[in-house]
Amino acid sequence: MLKTHQCGELRASDAGAEVTLAGWVHRRRDHGGLLFFDLRDRSGLVQVVCNDGTPAAARQAANELRPEYVVQVKGTVARRPQGLENPDLPTGAVEVQAGDVTILNTARTPVFYINEDDDVDEALRLRYRYLDLRRPRMQRNIVLRHETVRCIRNYLAAQGFIEIETPMLIRSTPEGARDYVVPSRLHPGCFYALPQSPQQLKQLLMVAGFERYFQIARCFRDEDQRADRQPEFTQLDLEMSFVDREDVLQLTEGLFTALVPAVSDKKVMRTPFPRLTYAEAMARYGSDKPDLRFGLEIVDLTAQAAQTGFQVFRDVAGAGGVVRGLRAPGCGGYTRKQLQELTDLAVKNGARGLVWIACAEGEVRSPAAKFLSEGELAGIMAALGLEPGDLGLIVAGAETVASAALGGLRSELGARLKLADDGVLAFAWVLDFPLLEWNPDEGRYQAVHHPFTAPLDEDLPYLEADPGRVRAKAYDVVANGYEVGGGSIRIHRCSVQERMFRAIGLSDEEARAQFGHLLEAFEFGAPPHGGIAPGIDRLVMLLAGEPNIREVIAFPKTQRAADLMLGSPACISERQLRELYIESRPRANGEA
Ligand code: AMO
Repeated sequence: MLKTHQCGELRASDAGAEVTLAGWVHRRRDHGGLLFFDLRDRSGLVQVVCNDGTPAAARQAANELRPEYVVQVKGTVARRPQGLENPDLPTGAVEVQAGDVTILNTARTPVFYINEDDDVDEALRLRYRYLDLRRPRMQRNIVLRHETVRCIRNYLAAQGFIEIETPMLIRSTPEGARDYVVPSRLHPGCFYALPQSPQQLKQLLMVAGFERYFQIARCFRDEDQRADRQPEFTQLDLEMSFVDREDVLQLTEGLFTALVPAVSDKKVMRTPFPRLTYAEAMARYGSDKPDLRFGLEIVDLTAQAAQTGFQVFRDVAGAGGVVRGLRAPGCGGYTRKQLQELTDLAVKNGARGLVWIACAEGEVRSPAAKFLSEGELAGIMAALGLEPGDLGLIVAGAETVASAALGGLRSELGARLKLADDGVLAFAWVLDFPLLEWNPDEGRYQAVHHPFTAPLDEDLPYLEADPGRVRAKAYDVVANGYEVGGGSIRIHRCSVQERMFRAIGLSDEEARAQFGHLLEAFEFGAPPHGGIAPGIDRLVMLLAGEPNIREVIAFPKTQRAADLMLGSPACISERQLRELYIESRPRANGEA
């Protein structure tokens, strides 16, 4: 080793020790007779000092140092003179008196400051990711990710799970997001697909008798990017045999409850995790991944609103819609502009408009006031729990629209009013999702989760007659407004799986052609099984308190799925294309 110690580990108790350190020059200060530089490695920083007693060769090398030069320092650890300690630095009680300084490599001036936590343009950070990753925040995040995965592995191994790898080159299936595909040289015209998740393979491992499997699995989905989505991402994929829903929930809850304090300073807000049905989550929070760090629950006003003289309310209620609202505490003094912003947000989420009621001491402002009697208005205010100083926000419309609009307003208010405690993770379960949803573009039902999810036993009889009402044995674990993971108890009987494929519009022939391997496997004694897949990137993002998952991925892609450092995706040579029997053509005019 070129070093005997890590920079960040030196303490007052090391005073007098002879050490050899190696790392990067973080910062350099020249005070004439006295020259200091901070030496940085993965463990942190330590101050190195060159003074009158430093050998001339070492001084000369130190004189040449620039930020990010790679150096080796041999020297003696000394306590800093009294009054010059730096309490903000773990090594701040000591400095290293240089005896020998060797420049191991020079460095170009970095394209952004590594030694300051500046806001740097993200494209530049991604282009020079290896420099970005040197910064303390990114080092912390990547180490946290490692600790998280290590903790997960230990926990699951102790629970009898075994880690099994599944292939990356699999077969494309039509359900789910768009696949990334890989052409086959040996099978002209044929393609592998990269897995969107190891879903079918983990089920086949249950048929194979492994009973408790997990994998830190790479997944690939060609879908639109968002702050919490990447084209390739990592799941903790797990599956268990001979279990029911409760077993998977308990296992996951135990894992997260142990993990969070082991790797971070966050607290799990509540155990056992609260449980909500999907219908309840939508009605009370307007979201299937509610942020439960704060209240601001949505209140249903439909019955009451239907009795008022306000035509809009009456019409919506009469047409089977809902009138719902929420209380924005302390927002009664919102300006016209602020109210317009909230209205725009509601409209963006599909609402026709937003009815607001601004309450001040002795005065109530509302565009709906002229359509409501004093008693009706007071009744609505009471139902919303409005007090002087509060603002009431009401949306009337179809249930899905009202939920989306009010859910959006609830999140916005949570952020504006700083209602959420950043120190906690408010995990919760969302249960009883619908099994199927109607896809109007394709004129058929599709699986809400995936087509291997089992229906609730009591809903199974409706699979053919009334598919929309069938609920699934599916569950999502959510935290702080994010879906952290999803899973389900699976179908394990061939006959039920066939019915499910029919329900999503596949003929028996199509089902056999695409999923024959699974249907066949189910004929060979498939055990009852179920599992879950928490997203590692989202989990670490929450543990790190970061706003997007790119901050916890070493080499992420941009919103347009590009790697700015490697320059991918990129064209390949004519020869490579020929070998794969592929012809590439430019995008035609007007082609999407
Ligand atoms: P699902 O599709 O819900 O389930 O994914 C599970 C979890 O994976 C994470 N995730 C993502 N993370 C980053 N970028 C993405 N593009 C992305 N897509 C999903 C989320 C999500 O909750 N096979 C099933 C699981 C199962 O049934 O066991 C599945 O993949 O955190």
